[in-house]
Amino acid sequence: MRGKVALITGGGQGIGLAIAHALAAEGCDVVITGRTLSTLKKSATQLAKYKVQVMPVVCDVRDEDAVAAMVAAARKKFQRLDVVINNAGVAHESLPVAKLPLEAWRQVIDTNLTGTFLVTRAALPLMKRGGTIVNNLSIAAKTAFPNMAGYVAAKHGALGLTKTLREELRPKGIRVIALMLGAVDTDIWDSFWPGAPRRRMMSPRTVASAVVNALRLPEDGSVDELVITGAAGPV
Ligand SMILES: NC(=O)c1ccc[n+]([C@@H]2O[C@H](COP(=O)([O-])OP(=O)(O)OC[C@H]3O[C@@H](n4cnc5c(N)ncnc54)[C@H](OP(=O)(O)O)[C@@H]3O)[C@@H](O)[C@H]2O)c1
Repeated sequence: MRGKVALITGGGQGIGLAIAHALAAEGCDVVITGRTLSTLKKSATQLAKYKVQVMPVVCDVRDEDAVAAMVAAARKKFQRLDVVINNAGVAHESLPVAKLPLEAWRQVIDTNLTGTFLVTRAALPLMKRGGTIVNNLSIAAKTAFPNMAGYVAAKHGALGLTKTLREELRPKGIRVIALMLGAVDTDIWDSFWPGAPRRRMMSPRTVASAVVNALRLPEDGSVDELVITGAAGPV
């Protein structure tokens, strides 16, 4: 991965930050984005130890103009992107459809589905043959969980986007991976299950090592779906 450039949305914390660490440890330059400058700065300081170039950029993936500006800044510094990790995501409070506020629904669809579309569309002109897009979906891209309709719908939709993109990009030699994770120990759980048994969950580092392995696959092969569940079983 040395000398390659990766864009990781939501790269300031959780799974995105773990992937940023794993890629930077391989010598990859990283662009990390999110809405919170203080978090991005702190994470960029941690990543400096790998002696790669680290570019923190504030960007709300729901905002078309902010996404365009973020990609333009990456283009100015690196001229290209080899890897795009669409990881930024939110969940919503655990509520049945009958009680789910429209605002909560919109927030999740706009971030997890439309955000993935906006970032991918803006980043594609910087990608070339041999590049890889990883969309961090969830096992909720294929399985329904009661009281999580917005999240499940967004992830099912993002799987549809991912599969379409894979077919569109196949002739260009750009691979598209659907990352489908079981429970991972991150702060996202606080928004819908604050008392979740986080100790039973996978570490973000475990996920990151699998992602890096998938990215290392020679160009004549492609990991279409990377499904990683916790060895301890569902939480
Ligand atoms: N943890 C799990 O069990 C699990 C399982 C399956 C899939 N996933 C998926 O993994 C991804 C990462 O989540 P995580 O578990 O690492 O949770 P997390 O620690 O809460 O991280 C979420 C990241 O997304 C960023 N983000 C949220 N809204 C954003 C927006 N509108 N624009 C830009 N960035 C935004 C956050 O940064 P800011 O708040 O600073 O913007 C943060 O960096 C999500 O897509 C999630 O659905 C997680």
